[in-house]
Amino acid sequence: MGRTMTETVPPPPRPEPLGLTGYLAPEGFLDELLEEIGEPAAVHDRLVLAPGPARPAAWAQNVWHDPVRIRFGSIGEAARALRAIQRNWALYPVRHHRRATLIQEKLPHVSAKPLVFPAPAPMAPLGSWMLEDERTLIAAARCASPFRNGEVAFAEDRETPPNRAYLKLWEALTLVGRKPGPGDLCLDLGASPGGWTWVLHELGARVIAVDKAPLDPAVAALPRVEERRGSAFALDPRTVGPVDWLCSDVICYPERLLRLVREWLESGLARNFVCTIKFQGPTDHAATRAFMAIPGSRVMHLHHNKHELTWVRMDPGPVTP
Ligand SMILES: C[S@@+](CC[C@H](N)C(=O)[O-])C[C@H]1O[C@@H](n2cnc3c(N)ncnc32)[C@H](O)[C@@H]1O
Repeated sequence: MGRTMTETVPPPPRPEPLGLTGYLAPEGFLDELLEEIGEPAAVHDRLVLAPGPARPAAWAQNVWHDPVRIRFGSIGEAARALRAIQRNWALYPVRHHRRATLIQEKLPHVSAKPLVFPAPAPMAPLGSWMLEDERTLIAAARCASPFRNGEVAFAEDRETPPNRAYLKLWEALTLVGRKPGPGDLCLDLGASPGGWTWVLHELGARVIAVDKAPLDPAVAALPRVEERRGSAFALDPRTVGPVDWLCSDVICYPERLLRLVREWLESGLARNFVCTIKFQGPTDHAATRAFMAIPGSRVMHLHHNKHELTWVRMDPGPVTP
């Protein structure tokens, strides 16, 4: 039965600010996030609620700004409360899965189509919410990631690139909203077998690919790829000359990558950086902090990263169209 003309819809329940920030750990890296954030106020599966405004957190896949608590009586009331705040919501499923799904189904549909690189990241704000218990939800209208729970899904190319490492570079470039293009020179360190080199070349750039191991022959044969066999650490920036993008996916200790990055920064010969910080054994938080302290840079855990982080520093100059 529909509502009669005289029936009034009660106002949606009022959100109560929590005075906390939510940090969502990537799967398998909750410990890293807790070590980075410190004492939490609450932990719901991989979502860490911690006091105060948002702090830089490399191990957060998404950040929930100014989360609120909403107490509700029914599924319809929960959905109305969320809709009254904004249109687009992503469920972070923690508990009472059936009930949470019924609420989410009453919210406007948000497309989850995989991104076709190099399409830009979605612009529409996407909030996140979860059930705290059967009659209480926690929601944040403003989140750091425009992707559902920070999970960036691409329409993959399973034929051309020699491995799946290309997905990391696709994701990093999508998140920073910049990419190399025709006329740019890229230095790809630790390039073998060539997933990143293939991405850079596909974007129209020239690539110097450096590795002790060989490139996949199909990548080595690409017209704007120059293969140089040897160690990335033996290169002198002055002999390589100016590069628009310095990319590194070299397997090495974070301290060694930090020294290499500092050398390139001091030389002033590289404009943009995308470098994977790889951890062997325990996570080196001190090295992560040293990368985070480099002015104008950002450290993030990509959805396609494993036990590693990605350090990016973009040239503050004009953006390549
Ligand atoms: C994860 S793989 C890189 C994958 C590559 N980004 C891709 O998309 O295909 C790491 C690479 O680092 C290389 N590597 C290790 N030490 C190196 C060094 N000192 N100089 C150059 N490359 C090195 C390895 O040979 C290996 O090919």
